[in-house]
Amino acid sequence: NLEKLEDLVEKRSEALQGGGEKRLSKQYQQGKLTARDRIDLLLDKGSFEEYDMFVIHRLKDFGMEDHSFYTDGVVTGHGTIDGRVVYVFSQDFTIFGGSLSETFAKKICKVMDMAMKVGAPIIGLNDSGGARIQEGVMSLSGYAEIFQRNIMASGVVPQLSAILGPCAGGAVYSPALTDFILMSDKTSYMFVTGPKVVKSVTGEIITPENLGGANVHNSKSGVSHLMGDNDQDTIKYLRKLISYMPSNYMEAPPIVETTDTIDRIEEKLNTIIPEDPKKPYSMKEVINLIVDKGSFLEIHKDYAKNIIIGFSRFNGRSVGIVANNPSYIAGVLDIEASKKAARFVRFCDAFNIPLVTLVDVPGFLPGSGQEYGGIIFHGAKLLFAYGEATVPKVTVTLRKSYGGAHIVMSGKQLRGDVNYAWPSAEIAVMGAKGAVEVLEGRSLSKITDKEVRQKEIVKKENEYTKRFANPYQAASHGFVDDIIEPRSTRFRICRSLEMLSNKKEKNPGKKHSNIPL
Ligand code: COA
Repeated sequence: NLEKLEDLVEKRSEALQGGGEKRLSKQYQQGKLTARDRIDLLLDKGSFEEYDMFVIHRLKDFGMEDHSFYTDGVVTGHGTIDGRVVYVFSQDFTIFGGSLSETFAKKICKVMDMAMKVGAPIIGLNDSGGARIQEGVMSLSGYAEIFQRNIMASGVVPQLSAILGPCAGGAVYSPALTDFILMSDKTSYMFVTGPKVVKSVTGEIITPENLGGANVHNSKSGVSHLMGDNDQDTIKYLRKLISYMPSNYMEAPPIVETTDTIDRIEEKLNTIIPEDPKKPYSMKEVINLIVDKGSFLEIHKDYAKNIIIGFSRFNGRSVGIVANNPSYIAGVLDIEASKKAARFVRFCDAFNIPLVTLVDVPGFLPGSGQEYGGIIFHGAKLLFAYGEATVPKVTVTLRKSYGGAHIVMSGKQLRGDVNYAWPSAEIAVMGAKGAVEVLEGRSLSKITDKEVRQKEIVKKENEYTKRFANPYQAASHGFVDDIIEPRSTRFRICRSLEMLSNKKEKNPGKKHSNIPL
C-alpha cells in the first residue's frame, strides 16, 4: 500500500511540473506566470481542489500516442475567493501550447457544469495556442461545447475571463461570451485572425500587439474591460471584481463592512459645478466623494470615456455606477458610450446589483458619422436596458439632462425608483442656446445691428434658462422626487438604497426580450 501511495505522490509531482522545467522557465522569461501560480494567486490560500489531474489526451496518431502530459494542458477545479466558492480553469501554455483538445474541453465543461449546479462563478484563465492542430475537428467540437455552456450560464452565474497569453481564432469566442474580460499588458493578445493571415488576405502588416494587445482592446475595441500591468495585477483585479457580485442570479451581492458613515457631508460638492455651464468638472471626483471611501472600481476606463461605469459600494452594499463624464466630449452620448453603458446596466440587473446613475448629459452626439453607424439602434440599447432593469434604480441629475438623453439616463418614467436633482440641474428639451436659435432664430436675424442682436440673444437665453433650464419644472410634475443639497448626496443615496433593498419588480412573462442588438 505504501508503494501505491508513493506512486500517487510521484504522479502528482509529475503533473505539477506541467510541460517541464524548460518550458516553465520560458513562461517566466516572457514575463508570465504559470497556470498553477495563477490559481494560487487567484484563490484563497490552500482552498484549491483540483479535478482531473490525471486526464491525458486520446490521440493515437501524429506520434502523439507516446507524447502526453497529465492535465492535458488545463488545470481545473474549485476554490474560494474571500470565502466564496468559485470554479476555475487555467490553461497551461507549457503543455502543447495550452492548445485545446477533446479531453481538455471536457475538463472545462465539467467545471462549468459543476458551477451551474452549485451556483458559483466561473473564472477562466486563458493562455493558449488555440485548437490543438493534431486533433482537428474534435477540438472544434470541444470549443462548441464550451460556447454552448457559456451561453447557458449567462445571467445564471458570473463568468469572468482573464487573457494572460495568446487567445486567437475560435478561442476568442468563449471569453467574448462571458461577462468581463481582463487582459495583462504586453503579454496577452486576442484576435480572430492573426497577423500572418491578415497579411496574406488584406496585405496589412501589423504586430500582434497592435492588432489585439491589451491596450488595443481596452481603449479601441472595448473587448476588454480591465487591464493589469502583469499577471499578478490582472489577477488582483479578478478578485476585486468578483467581490461586488453575488455567486448567482438568485443571491444578493455580499455586504461588506464599512467604517464610512452614511451621513458623511461633503461640502465640496456644493461648489463643484462651475458657474459656466460649458466648463467641465471631475465626475470621478464626485463619485469618489459620495461612495464608501476607496470602493470605486472603474470598468472600461479607457474606452468610450464620455461615460463612466464601474462598481462601488454605499454603506457596504454593491452598486453599479453609470455617470456621464463632462470632462470628455462634454459627456455626450454616442454609439460606443451607449453600448458600453447598456451592457453594464444589463449585467447589474442580471445579478441584483442596484444602479446609481449620475447625469450630466448634453444629448446624443449629432452628425452623419453617428447616424450612419446606427446611433438610433445603439442609443436604444441603453434606453432598453434601463427600462427593462428591475433592480433598485437611484438617479441624481447634477447638471444637464436634455432631450432624449434625459429619458435614456434612467429617467423617472423608465421605472426609476428615486430620482434626485441638484439645484444646478437643467432638465429640459435642449440647452438655452439651441432652444433660442430654433424658437427665435428668424426674429433675431432681422436685427441688423450686431451688438443689439447679441444683447437680445443673451436676454432670450437668460429668459429660457430661468424658465426651463432648472430642476423645478420637472419637480413640479413629480418627475424628480426631490431637489437635494449636493453635499448630502451620499446620505440620500444610502438611505434610498436601504429603503429599496427589498424591492420586488417583475417584467411580463415572455421567452426573452428583443433588445435592439
Ligand atoms: N496545437 C498544438 N500545439 C500547439 C499549438 C496548437 N494550436 N499552438 C502551439 N502549440 C505548441 C507548439 O508546437 C510548441 O510545442 P513544443 O513546446 O513542444 O515545441 C508549444 O506549443 C509552444 O508554441 P510556440 O509556437 O513555440 O510558442 P510561441 O510563444 O512562439 O507562439 C503562438 C505562440 C500561439 C503564436 C503559436 O504557437 C501559434 O501560432 N500557434 C498556432 C495558433 C493557431 O493557429 N491555432 C489554431 C487556430 S484556433
